[in-house]
Amino acid sequence: MSWLPMLSRCGFILVLGLALIPFVRVPFAARATDICADPPRDNCSFYSQCLEARFHCGPDGYPLGYGLKYCTKFGDEREKLSEKGQTWMLDTMYCLQHKLVPEAVGASNVTCDQLEDKAFETHSDCYVQSGLCTLSAVDWLAIVDIVQLPTLFQSWDAFKETLEAGGDCLEFYGFLITHGL
Ligand SMILES: *[C@@H]1O[C@H](CO)[C@@H](O)[C@H](O)[C@H]1NC(C)=O
Ligand SMILES: *[C@@H]1O[C@H](CO)[C@@H](O)[C@H](O)[C@H]1NC(C)=O
Repeated sequence: MSWLPMLSRCGFILVLGLALIPFVRVPFAARATDICADPPRDNCSFYSQCLEARFHCGPDGYPLGYGLKYCTKFGDEREKLSEKGQTWMLDTMYCLQHKLVPEAVGASNVTCDQLEDKAFETHSDCYVQSGLCTLSAVDWLAIVDIVQLPTLFQSWDAFKETLEAGGDCLEFYGFLITHGL
């Protein structure tokens, strides 16, 4: 007659498991709302709720004038990109926001100028590491149509030199030259 204690043990484990559910769910809910420490994918709130709320750089500052502006523009005009291009866009947005998490949650304040410098420094890495150079010319054209690429790079010439030096980006470099960029 060993099935009876076994059954009650199963019941106990089940009840214990159900009782734990609210405690297991709480950390996930808390983490989901902490967009400053872990900005969610496909979401631009980080720029207004985390950067602008903390640094107050105004409508022309980096958080609203660049970050939020181009994040929103990419999101709104994503259908101009291929599926691969849209994945690149989401990866790039995610990368750009995560690189600024230290500024968003850090103990020390930077100035708006310092924030902008840091942000612009991350652009090349995020764009290229997310696979900009591996996209098709159709996507490159769409990207140039959505954002003024040269305005997103503090030193456009330095960016082009990086592309020229890295073999994987020769085709994209050629595309920029062909289009007078
Ligand atoms: C972005 O994330 C915030 C916080 O999680 C959420 O409130 C908001 O609805 C999201 N926005 C979009 C467009 O998904
Ligand atoms: C950073 O600056 C904001 C706005 O001026 C201020 O409210 C906040 O207390 C400052 N934080 C630190 C850690 O200095």
